Amino acid sequence: MNARTDAPQTAPASSPAAPVPAQPPAAEFPAPAPTSPVPAAPAPTAAEPERSGPDHQQFVDWLRMVAPYIHAFRGKTFVIAFAGELVKSGVLNALVNDVALLHAMGMQIVLVHGSRPQVEEQLALRHVESQFVDGVRVTDNAALECAKEAAGELRLDIEAAFSQGLPNTPMAGAQLSVISGNFVTARPVGIVNGTDYQHTGLVRKIDAESVRMSLSHGKVVLLSPLGFSPTGQAFNLSMEDVASATATALKADKLIFITEVPGVPDPVGKMMQEMSLRTAVERLQNNHLPPDVANYLQHLVKALKGGVPRAHLIPYSLDGAVLLELFLHDGVGTMLSDTDLESLREATLDDVGGIVQLIAPLEQDGTLVPRGRHLIERDISNFSVIEHDGVLFGCAALYDYPRENMGEMACLTVSQEAQGTGDGERLLKRIERRARALGLEKLFVLTTRTEHWFLKRGFVHANVDDLPEDKRKLYNWQRKSMVLMKKL
Ligand SMILES: CC(C)(COP(=O)(O)OP(=O)(O)OC[C@H]1O[C@@H](n2cnc3c(N)ncnc32)[C@H](O)[C@@H]1OP(=O)(O)O)[C@@H](O)C(=O)NCCC(=O)NCCS
Repeated sequence: MNARTDAPQTAPASSPAAPVPAQPPAAEFPAPAPTSPVPAAPAPTAAEPERSGPDHQQFVDWLRMVAPYIHAFRGKTFVIAFAGELVKSGVLNALVNDVALLHAMGMQIVLVHGSRPQVEEQLALRHVESQFVDGVRVTDNAALECAKEAAGELRLDIEAAFSQGLPNTPMAGAQLSVISGNFVTARPVGIVNGTDYQHTGLVRKIDAESVRMSLSHGKVVLLSPLGFSPTGQAFNLSMEDVASATATALKADKLIFITEVPGVPDPVGKMMQEMSLRTAVERLQNNHLPPDVANYLQHLVKALKGGVPRAHLIPYSLDGAVLLELFLHDGVGTMLSDTDLESLREATLDDVGGIVQLIAPLEQDGTLVPRGRHLIERDISNFSVIEHDGVLFGCAALYDYPRENMGEMACLTVSQEAQGTGDGERLLKRIERRARALGLEKLFVLTTRTEHWFLKRGFVHANVDDLPEDKRKLYNWQRKSMVLMKKL
């Protein structure tokens, strides 16, 4: 599939072939305790659950739709960095609500706040002029005091926001502890091209072990753009530097920048949903990006080069941007990745649960012949799967009949939201390649509903008599599947 997929978008688990995590979680989530009034679905009365009203159903479908990603992201470490402008624009509480929700879903969160406008405010209050050289602040003694003041205030505001817990708010029952500390060691930028940047610093080291320990105790770690040198001096850092260094040191699963920039535009100005590391580096080298975008992008690139697999740039102007980015198929900003997100590969035992979930709705509606989990487990080496960022979107299996030099393609399935983007064809080609490698000469399928798809791809009608003997004996005359065959 081509579309950006860091989260499912459309296919509810109850609809055909919803995407599923490649590796099901080891443990189940505790039953969620809704904190705001949630409509109660009518109780099912029989084996076939009763469908609830449209609003209820939408709610249930939506929740089921995001479940694979809740599983996939559980226990993962996300570094979420946000610009000081976010706080200035009054949306801190909304972000804190969303972060608390992610934390409740099992994600380990490190927050890094920016403080640029707040430092500016402090400087203005003291009638001190800001001094920038090449876009970098020169932090003199007065500016350092302002940076400390701004960071202290922001930290208190953020901690206060995390301490909320009023009933009927998203924070009810959250009981979240936020930890801050001297996790960042800094060094001075020094004198560059004749400019002494004084107390402006760069990250020298992150105390990853202490951060990890706090995360493992269920805390949210909050970092400010300040660091300390071994001599005890404080340095004014950039939020971007702290965030990318922290993500790298922690080997975080994601680095997310929530900023005034909505994402990375392509050369014609359209926002890019996905971007490879190589493209990002090329765009930075071409030097055609707006300076603020280039600034964020270079830190995202740095994190990716440091081993962080995904990095995101999203706008704070959009309510719930972090949730939308994580749980919507296309996200709302730009996601950078260091690898080809999608892989077509042979299945392993870890994929059994994913395959079972992928094909279950099609078995239920009769498109596929039901096969139990144990059969999939037994035959797992026959399967090829398409995985996108940890989630299975398609599968197919090859069964060989060496006596007749024939192979059967079975279980061809592409999740509903990924259909129509060529995944079916890629799986077919993979199975054909595997069949050829086994020396098979013909590939056949039994199908009741997908005749035309196969005809278009070189299959022709055949008879039951053309099937390998062992398959012929098992042919289900009630099902009356069509036999389609292709010469390899
Ligand atoms: C059949 C299936 C695997 C195709 O996967 P896909 O990733 O959508 O396939 P592709 O993107 O390669 O091809 C899409 C094309 O096939 C067409 N197509 C999809 N399902 C079709 C069907 N049942 N009959 C005929 N054409 C079909 C689409 O309309 C589209 O046509 P277009 O290219 O002219 O727009 C997928 O639709 C699926 O999982 N279906 C349900 C399970 C199933 O029927 N499996 C086959 C069991 S034998």
